[in-house]
Amino acid sequence: MSAGPKTAGSNGPARGEAMLLAFDDEWELAQRLASALGWPLHPVQRHRFPDGETRLRLPPQLPPRVAILRGLQQPNAKLTELWLAAAGARELGARQLALAAPYLAYMRQDIAFTPGEVVSQRHLGRLLAQGFECVITIDPHLHRVATMDEVVPGRRGVALSAAPLLGRWLAAQVPDALLVAPDEEAEQWVAAAAREQGLSYLVSRKQRLGDREVRVSIPPAELAGRAVVLLDDVASTGRTLLDATATLRGRGAASVDVAVTHGLFVGDAIERLREAGVRHIWSTDSVPHASNCVSVAPLLAQALADWVRLPE
Ligand code: R5P
Repeated sequence: MSAGPKTAGSNGPARGEAMLLAFDDEWELAQRLASALGWPLHPVQRHRFPDGETRLRLPPQLPPRVAILRGLQQPNAKLTELWLAAAGARELGARQLALAAPYLAYMRQDIAFTPGEVVSQRHLGRLLAQGFECVITIDPHLHRVATMDEVVPGRRGVALSAAPLLGRWLAAQVPDALLVAPDEEAEQWVAAAAREQGLSYLVSRKQRLGDREVRVSIPPAELAGRAVVLLDDVASTGRTLLDATATLRGRGAASVDVAVTHGLFVGDAIERLREAGVRHIWSTDSVPHASNCVSVAPLLAQALADWVRLPE
């Protein structure tokens, strides 16, 4: 990297050497991120043709390092645009590309659960590895494939966690909270949040019977009168949280709040959670939603600042 005036303190890239690109529907997070990094922010401009195709426009001259912010909730249409934006960015001068995808889709299908099922995680990972030198995400749903480096073979994969941030938030709101993981995979996040705040936690077991049908078994514990916070990586249909809430309330919990990194909350999820008696619904801004209360911008900024310091 050439010497010169810095835009992000002594650890930042020289002016003109890095840029953040983002789409209009994630602009608030993009502004927070650009401000934390001290990098210029430019939009990926989109024009939708009547037949459903999209024309993209990027700044005509790009610096050597470009990061694209793109959350991959509702991913199918976004993936085409992202692929085009990455390819276009290289033609316009970017030599190193990072994808900051706060929510990374298609992580659940990490094996063929029945013969003939396409292992989406593997193929999406390979696709992203072709387009980006670095892929950064938050609380990805990794199970049998344990690391992001494996998801994006040959590239830098970074998995951040918002659990400590959520832990700080919920401990400030509910100082005596009992944290509950709705399934065993959520133990990692609940344990991280609880550890830092000195809170206690329980880990439930979950049986999924269908897209909108789950059974959550909460272990024996005195719940009567407790202020409980359910903490998970993602709420999609909300049925996991809903089933857990019904049990918690049935066992006398004084209040049930929910906190998730990625608030997808599809369909009637929020309405159903409110009807079930959930008091507060909190999420990070990894997915734009009315429940956002904690920003992941500092996490992403640190990861991008680390990336930009690496040699090409
Ligand atoms: C899966 O195990 C995840 O951690 C979540 O618990 C799950 O994706 C939530 O899905 P839903 O909100 O549709 O129950």
